[in-house]
Amino acid sequence: MKSGRQKIEWARQYMPVLASIREEFGENRPFAGVTVGMALHVEAKTAVLVETLASGGAEVHITGCNPLSTQDDVAAALNAVPRVRCYAKRGCTVEEYYTALNRVLDARPSITIDDGMDLIHLLHTRRQELLDGIVGGCEETTTGIHRLRAMAAAGALRFPVIAVNDTPMKRYFDNVHGTGESTLAALMATTNVLMAGKAIVVAGYGFCGRGLATKAAALGARVIVTEVDPRTALQAHMDGMHVMTMDRAAKEGEIFVTTTGNTTVITGRHFRQMKAGAILANAGHFNVEIDIPWLAKHAESTEHRDGIDTYVIGGKPLHVLAEGRLVNLATPKGMGHPVEVMDLSFSLQALSARYIAVEGKTLAPGVYEVPAAIDEEVAHRKLTSLGLSIDRLSDEQARYLEGWEQGT
Ligand code: NAI
Repeated sequence: MKSGRQKIEWARQYMPVLASIREEFGENRPFAGVTVGMALHVEAKTAVLVETLASGGAEVHITGCNPLSTQDDVAAALNAVPRVRCYAKRGCTVEEYYTALNRVLDARPSITIDDGMDLIHLLHTRRQELLDGIVGGCEETTTGIHRLRAMAAAGALRFPVIAVNDTPMKRYFDNVHGTGESTLAALMATTNVLMAGKAIVVAGYGFCGRGLATKAAALGARVIVTEVDPRTALQAHMDGMHVMTMDRAAKEGEIFVTTTGNTTVITGRHFRQMKAGAILANAGHFNVEIDIPWLAKHAESTEHRDGIDTYVIGGKPLHVLAEGRLVNLATPKGMGHPVEVMDLSFSLQALSARYIAVEGKTLAPGVYEVPAAIDEEVAHRKLTSLGLSIDRLSDEQARYLEGWEQGT
């Protein structure tokens, strides 16, 4: 537990935005009498968010959102915080994972905070008796929001949810810089191989893929991008990446990282084409991007190390990191996003949760953007913490931007 507390204190010193919010929450107690149910990666930065909500008066029940990403010492430290219960355990079975989600729901939360939508899914399927008590929720990641929008389109979503992922202050920093840096850090710490000069294949050039590809290129890698969207592929090309199909990239790549949020992106016919010693990792939310069941079925032999599973296919070893689960959190040395990035993302979560606590009952079921005022507030608080000032629009400039009369 001591090491968990030390990790939380370490993270806390680089989270000035959340610190300023925590101070205000401590005075105003916006969550007095509110129970918050959370399913997020249980590690130090998340713990700082949990403490922030608790200092605002919330009772917080939390579990993980991935069987491999929990840090047990942080979970133990959280259980020592007043009004907080944590049920997460690293390396839990799928059954234990769902038992823990159910324990969060047993606390009858009125606000949910998800990363991947598993809590909300459970509420709408097996725990529908609790739906009337929910005021609203917040969702952290792209994949969760895809699922929520599909639910809303089908008329199945029963309460309002804020799409925290989709707001600029999240996507432009967390997905781009956070996933980019932490994925490379986890890759290097787990494998000890050199990035400079490597052929690194990045599948998907969205927010996460773009960050990863750019940072890998900065380390001297030769970056190959695969895409399904022609506009995004062209953007990658003009950013200097080598764009090709996965069929071709499979033959050229030495390291592969999937960041698509899609399924079976790398599968049987690709594995058969790969070079001996190819390293495969996934940075997308679910472990469906690399076809691990195919590898397990067709491997001539397998070997398991800490964080690396080796499958021999056609006499060639292929190394999969973290069982194809998101590599920046699920490898033994994966620390998740850098602290400063999560300061922004979790400040958005804290303020969005407060928005739900205050306004949730007035909102119809559906997926909502983070209010622009919250997005800007987080940016301003961060700039202030950095000691940076920016210009303000003059009245004349504001009128000019809103007007249509002035031309050449
Ligand atoms: P995005 O929607 O911006 O990008 C995904 C890209 O993948 C799109 O450009 C899409 O055209 C492309 N794509 C889809 N299917 C493909 C296929 N079969 N082959 C090649 N490209 C394909 O999404 P974003 O924000 O980049 O997120 C991607 C995934 O990463 C999601 O699952 C998200 O939840 C997850 N995520 C993971 C984080 C981490 O810590 N590892 C942090 C943030 C998001």
